[in-house]
Amino acid sequence: MKNILVTGGLGYIGSHTVVELQNEGFKVTIIDNLSNTRISVLDKIAEITGIKPDFHQIDLRIKSDVKNFFETNTVDGIIHFAAFKAVGESMQKPLDYYENNVNTLVYLLQEMRDRKLDNFIFSSSCTVYGQADILPITENATVKKAASTYGNTKQIGEEIIQESCKSHHLNAIALRYFNPIGAHSSVKIGELPLGVPQNLIPFVTQTAAGIRKELAVFGNDYPTTDGTAIRDYVHVVDLAKAHIAALQRLINKNNKEAFEFFNVGTGTGTSVLQVIKAFEKASGKPLNYKIVDRREGDITAAYADTSIANKELKWKSENTLEEALESAWKWQQQQN
Ligand code: NAD
Ligand code: UD1
Repeated sequence: MKNILVTGGLGYIGSHTVVELQNEGFKVTIIDNLSNTRISVLDKIAEITGIKPDFHQIDLRIKSDVKNFFETNTVDGIIHFAAFKAVGESMQKPLDYYENNVNTLVYLLQEMRDRKLDNFIFSSSCTVYGQADILPITENATVKKAASTYGNTKQIGEEIIQESCKSHHLNAIALRYFNPIGAHSSVKIGELPLGVPQNLIPFVTQTAAGIRKELAVFGNDYPTTDGTAIRDYVHVVDLAKAHIAALQRLINKNNKEAFEFFNVGTGTGTSVLQVIKAFEKASGKPLNYKIVDRREGDITAAYADTSIANKELKWKSENTLEEALESAWKWQQQQN
């Protein structure tokens, strides 16, 4: 049984991926410092799969603790989710973001090099493309100068991995996520945003639940069909399954290059107003919203060309937007 280390495995995407890994028969070892999640997620994973993963409460910024972990544990692959992810906060605290998103990556890769470990999967983001010139966005699109420190940590992360793959025996895949949404069908795990949500879907569900008064739609003067911005919203369980596909590609040595990167999205662009309509249909509740000015730093449209991921990873998103929104709404009601 292959043992996979999942860093940040109690977080939003990590917990869903741990469930899919266990469903596929992998043994899972989680490292999380609980900086953006709760320990109760571990029990929820066990309730879903019937297996409690090994858990180590380690802060990956502490190099000696990372070293100690590898001295007593052997792993067949690593999926590295642990990072800070708030775009706005990254501009206020750039050094904290570089420390948490870059240093931790370097420490893990050093251990992999020193112990001749292989198979590394990295959480990257569509943010590396910025506003792409051509839509849908293919993996060949130019990586533009990052608009935020957070985005820069993902670009730097990909570069560090690519150089590591060149200089020592390492095979790695970066998955460039578009907009992950939704929750597990068991309604036991989902997104746990702290404070006022910055992302659209948690704000929508909290508004419908009466926690927020109204949703502010950031701009209706974009050059799109209804004037609101377009994104590619992918169900988190589909995203989790993309990690299994990527891992199997590495373990089975089906990769074509030592370092590869793939888009993970649905391939469909949806505007903010379309999201609102789809949510109202999925939840059966009208949503209170108003149009306000554009949010600084937002782009007009981003959606994935998924043909390379479909072909190479043999992966395709399966859930519809309505299904994803329905699961997000069920999760929200569960929180209440
Ligand atoms: P999350 O915050 O829910 O999960 C990250 C987990 O890592 C948390 O449980 C946190 O406690 C843990 N962690 C953070 N720093 C750590 C450290 N130093 N040591 C140990 N554990 C640490 O975030 P998520 O939404 O699940 O995102 C996972 C990854 O995917 C991140 O790398 C993020 O940048 C990337 N990503 C997320 C999105 C998104 O919309 N959620 C989009 C693109 C990329
Ligand atoms: C944001 C990040 C991106 C990150 C992603 C993770 C920015 C600029 N980008 O993407 O780097 O990878 O989150 O999920 O922050 N919207 C509203 N009202 C709201 C919230 C959002 O109208 O209250 C709109 C936004 O303008 C955008 C869309 O909804 O058009 C999606 O927003 P959001 O969920 O924040 O994701 P992104 O901005 O695409």
